[in-house]
Amino acid sequence: MANSPKIVITDLKTPVNGTMVVFTDEDLAFGAVAKAALKPSGDLVQRVAKIEKFKGKRNKVLDLAAPSGLKLEHLLIAGLGKPKDMQAEDWLKLGGTIMGRLPAAARNVTVLAEIAGGKLSADAAAQIALGMKLRAYKFDRYKTRKKDGEDEAKTPAAEIKIAAGNVADAKKAWAAAGGIGDGIVLARELVNEPPNVLFPVEFARRASELKKLGVQVEVLDEPAMKKLGMNALLAVGQGSERDSRLVIMRWNGAKKKSETPIAIVGKGVCFDTGGISIKPAASMEDMKGDMAGAACVTGLMHALAARKAKANVIGVIGIVENMPDGKAYRPGDILKSYSGQTIEVINTDAEGRLVLCDALAYTNERFKPKLIIDLATLTGAILVALGQEYAGLFSNDDKLAERLTEAGKVTGEHVWRMPLAPYYDKMIDSKFADMKNTGGRFGGSITAAQFLQRYIGKTPWAHLDIAGTGMAAHNSEIGDSWGPGWGVRLLNEFIAAHYEK
Ligand code: BES
Ligand code: MN
Ligand code: ZN
Repeated sequence: MANSPKIVITDLKTPVNGTMVVFTDEDLAFGAVAKAALKPSGDLVQRVAKIEKFKGKRNKVLDLAAPSGLKLEHLLIAGLGKPKDMQAEDWLKLGGTIMGRLPAAARNVTVLAEIAGGKLSADAAAQIALGMKLRAYKFDRYKTRKKDGEDEAKTPAAEIKIAAGNVADAKKAWAAAGGIGDGIVLARELVNEPPNVLFPVEFARRASELKKLGVQVEVLDEPAMKKLGMNALLAVGQGSERDSRLVIMRWNGAKKKSETPIAIVGKGVCFDTGGISIKPAASMEDMKGDMAGAACVTGLMHALAARKAKANVIGVIGIVENMPDGKAYRPGDILKSYSGQTIEVINTDAEGRLVLCDALAYTNERFKPKLIIDLATLTGAILVALGQEYAGLFSNDDKLAERLTEAGKVTGEHVWRMPLAPYYDKMIDSKFADMKNTGGRFGGSITAAQFLQRYIGKTPWAHLDIAGTGMAAHNSEIGDSWGPGWGVRLLNEFIAAHYEK
């Protein structure tokens, strides 16, 4: 995959030359292999640690060039703090931190996956590798020139060796984690791509490439959707020169092929101008990321197929472009949705729920899944409520909400439950149709979720509003990508923990 180093798992006996990365703790103790390798340098490490006030704290890294007595170009010493407290996410972040600290010219990089008193678990080694892979990702396809000093300086090492205690286990763990990594990179690419490149037909084409991994992919074009009565989704796209699509991806990995699937549905607005209720100019370019929900679903399907997940999962994405035009839908229009319910359009910028209501109702009726989870960059109001750290979680099912919250704690992709209640539902009743597509200024994220709830019947359902977390991401240990690939690890963890037994 583009822009990420090749990770190779080797054993701890592999001789290291070039760059060696070793781990230490708050006692500045090392694993046996590192200790032996460092021996010719005498008390060098202790002296440097003292001068640099390096105490082995978590995510602190010492970098020594040409360490005396050793045949190395670089020695990186990464602190773990208290190794026993390290959770999966901590290893991931540490891997990212190490990648960020690798010197520009680092070659032949080998990470010794051991600590004082033993080897790292295969899962810890795989998480370190995943963190390195994600941190190395860059979206620079459209840069024809490099900034001064930016050339070699940010080029990550092309290949990284992870020297593990149990090679067979580590290889297996990496085969899975690397597949998840490729899914995250795919999600990032889709969110980062400009809207003149990634329009609905092109998005559908990229999703169709998952066929190579054994995913069944079905693409519905406009006539097919028209026939099915998906008039809400189609209305959003009707002002665009670009055709709309609905893509259905199926991964049938469960032992019992007839096992009832779970379904994940994503909002894929490739560009959201607001339509006739046009958005102000400031930051409108960010609306290329209004397909982050669909990107997450696509990345997740990639991850599940790549690691051959033992679960039956359906991914459905509604992909459109919301444009103002002579043919565009208008405020005041009344739409008959796939479910038969009618919608009065108040604001053409509340388009995500119109795409989702048809995708959700169709998924529910056709597949009768065990549960449905949708992801959408649905409301600016969720940014006001939660900022960019937590996604909003709305659910009609306490167990599902609990499980998603727990999965978020494991992966660090946090979700915060928000309320659903009849009071909010009333706010979207319409004078002329069954409902309006907006509920006024107050509780904007909640009334949007209430709207979706009218389309899922009694099926256990969760809606994740990712307007804050899915795009325009802050830099973090695991990368500085504008599109973070948020939610791929969360849903992968949710599925692994509960649907692959
Ligand atoms: N795509 C936007 C929501 C959004 C805002 C995502 C900021 C990411 C960052 C959505 O389609 C939208 O325009 N929502 C409106 C709804 C309103 C018209 C009821 C909003 O949030 O203002
Ligand atoms: Mn909008
Ligand atoms: Zn939108």
